[in-house]
Order: sequence, then structure tokens, then C-alpha cells
Amino acid sequence: MKEHVEKALNEQIQKEGQSSHFYLAMASWAETQGLGGTSGFMYKQSEEERFHMLKLVKFVNERGGKAIIPSFTKPQEEFKSVLNVFEMLLEHEIEVTESINDLVEVCLIEKDYTTHNFIQWYLAEQLEEEAQARTILDKARLVGEDKAGLYLFDRDLENSAILIQPANTVSPGV
Ligand code: FEO
Repeated sequence: MKEHVEKALNEQIQKEGQSSHFYLAMASWAETQGLGGTSGFMYKQSEEERFHMLKLVKFVNERGGKAIIPSFTKPQEEFKSVLNVFEMLLEHEIEVTESINDLVEVCLIEKDYTTHNFIQWYLAEQLEEEAQARTILDKARLVGEDKAGLYLFDRDLENSAILIQPANTVSPGV
């Protein structure tokens, strides 16, 4: 595996793991606020990001590179509101998408079409995750500070009533 590609993949491993860590902090905060739907959603997001990290780890190692298991920075403990959580979720996913796009660029420069092909799964995943985060954020904005609305929003999240049904969640067998 080419050095630049390996380095970029290892950076992505760190980002996916850090995302998982960040979302875990959001899940835990929501749980302490009695927001079962929001916490359940964020626990699941955290799991998905961990899966994204593991898939990269396996790919790097299987292609003769060396995956580096990174350390993570401690995420914040407090969030201002549910709205704040979903604003940060979308912002973070947009950053991850940019990072995946950078990875695609490295693959093309290095003419590593195998990794380029592998990364397409992440591009599709990012499209879905961004769309989902936007949908939920729109709903959270509608609710605003309204307590009854927040109760219904959280319940809908628990029932997956406001989620986009993902077409890209088939486990690729990590
Ligand atoms: Fe794996 Fe949502 O970034």
C-alpha cells in the first residue's frame, strides 16, 4: 500500500473513532436528561462510527499496510440542548464527508483504484448520514424550546418515525 494512502486511511481511522467517541458522549448526556429516543439514536450512531473505523482497520491490514489504533480526545460532557446536539451532529458529519473527499483525492493522485473503490461505500454512507442529520435537525428546530414538542420529538426518534430508512447499512462483514 502506498505511503500517502496508508497515512490518509489511518487519519480516517482516527476520525471515525473520534466520531464514535463524540456521539457516545452525546448519547450519555441525552440519557441523563431522560431523553431515551435521542440517547438510543446517538448510541446507535456511535456504534456505526465504530464500525466505520473497524472496517478501515481491517482494510489497511488486509492490504499489507499497518492500521494504527489511535487515541481520542475527551469529548465535552455537557450539551446546551437537543437542538445543540443535532446541530453538532450535522456539523461533524459534514467535516467527515470533507475528509472522505480528501481521501478520494489522495487515491486518485496515487492511482490506487482499489482503495478508491473501497472508499465509495463511505461516500454513500456519508450522503445518508448527512441527509438523516438534516432531517432530524429540521424537526428539532421546529420543536425549539417547547417541552411537549420535545417529548414527542424524542418519542418519534425512539420509534424511528422521523428517520430515513437507510439503504446502506448491510453489514459488510467486519
Ligand atoms: Fe463514519 Fe458518519 O462518519
